[in-house]
Amino acid sequence: MTVEIKMPQGRFDGHARNKLGTLEPDDLLHRIGPGTPCGEYMRRFWHPIAISSMVADRPVRLRRFGENLVLFRDKSGRLGLLHLNCSHRNASLEFGVIETDGIRCCYHGWKYDIDGTILETPAEPANSRIRERVRQGAYPVVEYKNMIFAYFGPPAEQPPLPVLDTWDWPDDEMVPYMVPSPVNWLQVSENSVDPYHVPFLHARVTGVQFQDNFAHIGVINYHEREAGFFYTTARRVGRMLWIRVHDHLLPNFSQNGGMWTEGDQSVYFARCGLTRWVVPVDDTNCIVIAWRHFNKETDPLGRGDKSQCGYDSVDFYGQTGHRPYELKQSNPGDYEAWGGQGPITVHARENLGHSDQGVASLRRKLKAAIKKFQEGERPLQPSVDGVPVNTYAGDTVLAIPPSNDDRDLCDRVSRRMAEIYRSGDKLTGEARRLHIKAALRELETMRG
Ligand code: FES
Ligand SMILES: [Fe+2]
Repeated sequence: MTVEIKMPQGRFDGHARNKLGTLEPDDLLHRIGPGTPCGEYMRRFWHPIAISSMVADRPVRLRRFGENLVLFRDKSGRLGLLHLNCSHRNASLEFGVIETDGIRCCYHGWKYDIDGTILETPAEPANSRIRERVRQGAYPVVEYKNMIFAYFGPPAEQPPLPVLDTWDWPDDEMVPYMVPSPVNWLQVSENSVDPYHVPFLHARVTGVQFQDNFAHIGVINYHEREAGFFYTTARRVGRMLWIRVHDHLLPNFSQNGGMWTEGDQSVYFARCGLTRWVVPVDDTNCIVIAWRHFNKETDPLGRGDKSQCGYDSVDFYGQTGHRPYELKQSNPGDYEAWGGQGPITVHARENLGHSDQGVASLRRKLKAAIKKFQEGERPLQPSVDGVPVNTYAGDTVLAIPPSNDDRDLCDRVSRRMAEIYRSGDKLTGEARRLHIKAALRELETMRG
């Protein structure tokens, strides 16, 4: 007697593909500790490391770029960022005591100024000179709009703090938040240069997470700019043509369009909903540190919720790991998408296609920038000497009805819109906004 068992039919490659399992991560881009090529390159930029609400009357233990650190605000209001372990015998300064002019180690009372100068060594004899020859590792820190930035590179190469045009625009409130993820920094950065995931992850595959119109792939174009690129996604929404713009500046900085734009009302050069960095914690952890922008132009119905923005919390779906596993499976968000790739994804196991242009471009640009840095060039900064650099992220919605070849129309209008945005580069502030808005209205009357 034979037993009838239905056997599956097909070509099963599991065993053959297992040999790929031994491939290593892309060390050049993934390793960010001290002395690594990418780590040293990234240390030539200012990065946000914390938000102001985290720093009260106790020292805060942090890990950034593979370094253990302590952040504190002394009683005269100055911020300090020191190596975590005391230069005396390595006690952790997270258990230190904050004083008017620095922080005192709990173990034998050594006191440190914010630049790592040892102010007191009370257990040593009065004539001890130990404090003159030892210093605690320290980094400069700057606070701006409730975000705390640090510079981890050599002092002689310290660049100015970047300033962007979106950081000081009228009637806009910038609320900081930060969310950690247990994955390499590049995975999270790549999510924001990957517009093709939006219609699938956020709308088509398991349901609409933000809005119905995201289900359209749209016409996507990439545009080069100094120190990075921006891309446009043009979508048809009835008789309106909605073009969403996203900035990416090297190494880890990006801005999105508005969080609540639906593309069905005319809007001319509305600005971003999000300004964010993906900051390495170590090779297998990172933290998004960002401002959410709250204003009437990008959110006329007031659907954003600033009370949800803070440590490990933000007011839009799928960014943190707190949802139940069942919900993560039934409705996975960005956090599951980048988290599911593992602590450090292996590039050699991927099969990139046309839709991965943004990801491939970011990797190429980073590798080229690291190479130039290794050859002795100073990395190109987003802005120079405190002059705000023009960015493009945000939304434009034009009343341009569909044509017979609507993809071609969307393509032409979005390219023309990018040219118009760029034509404002020689201007700044309100003059630039007025110039761009007027040119967009003209484009609209010409029906593209
Ligand atoms: S270990 Fe810090 S003072 Fe001794
Ligand atoms: Fe996303």
